[in-house]
Amino acid sequence: MTPLSTPDLHALVEGVYADLAPFRGEGAVADYIPQLARVDPQSFGLAVATTGGDVITAGDALAPFSIQSVSKVFTLALALGKWGDGLWKRVGREPSGTAFNSIVQLEQEKGIPRNPFINAGAIVVTDSLLAGHQPREALGEILRFLHFLADDESIVVDQAVARSEQATGFRNQALANYMRAFGNLHHPVDLTLGVYFHQCAIAMSCAQLAKAGLFLANAGRLITGGSVVSRERARRINALMLTCGHYDASGDFAYRVGLPGKSGVGGGILAIVPGQAAIAVWSPGLNANGNSALGTRALELLAQRTGWSVF
Ligand code: DON
Repeated sequence: MTPLSTPDLHALVEGVYADLAPFRGEGAVADYIPQLARVDPQSFGLAVATTGGDVITAGDALAPFSIQSVSKVFTLALALGKWGDGLWKRVGREPSGTAFNSIVQLEQEKGIPRNPFINAGAIVVTDSLLAGHQPREALGEILRFLHFLADDESIVVDQAVARSEQATGFRNQALANYMRAFGNLHHPVDLTLGVYFHQCAIAMSCAQLAKAGLFLANAGRLITGGSVVSRERARRINALMLTCGHYDASGDFAYRVGLPGKSGVGGGILAIVPGQAAIAVWSPGLNANGNSALGTRALELLAQRTGWSVF
């Protein structure tokens, strides 16, 4: 992949922001979690953290937003650290071709979700982190992991978003109860979902998110040298992000952007450029598949202009 100088990258990020800023407000802000609907639809931020140590930002890149399903990347890394390949007995590694909150495959596939990024799969991953822990401890572990990765202890849960999701999370309760009936949820539904709702309600800025995801671009290591996951595991997480990170739009995202990516209904997307950078974009308006409309366009344009792609 093309190595870029810092000034060139600065100019490219600024250029993508400037070209797309007129389209702010595109898409529909998620409202099935009422608190998410209160966000300013005009928000638009972009951050690129490079393996060379630069963090390049544009727009609202320092404003915290609800990371929602982007949290699933970090809980997956933690759960693989705890259970290794044993985790794959409880969750698959195939794209679902269905919406993030779909229940249809669970009956035919005996309560084993297709992958760790659809809601059902992420709930199982979170359940696996609860083993031997109270919910508060499991959530603490997730937050500490993010503090360590982003080198930033200011990252917290947005309690209003967590409460809002808890009050309206009927589909997630259905998914969790369904899996519990199949024996694939090992803790009471309320406890597992309590952690899941709070992890989704973690608030981070694009800059924090790009820094936190950088280990996936850096062969599993912090750029300061510490190991987070093995090189092989980083590659595998990236493979899952590419194939499953955008639900039933994962193929379209791979086609348009060509990078591993994980979206959230808060309008954030984390994308990984192996060897080069982690990119975080945020724009709350979503497309029909529940992924940031302008965020996807920003990544598409940045990938075109930088030449970054895994293909
Ligand atoms: O479980 C939910 O519905 C949300 N907390 C997360 C969903 C999400 O971010 C889907 N991503 N596009």
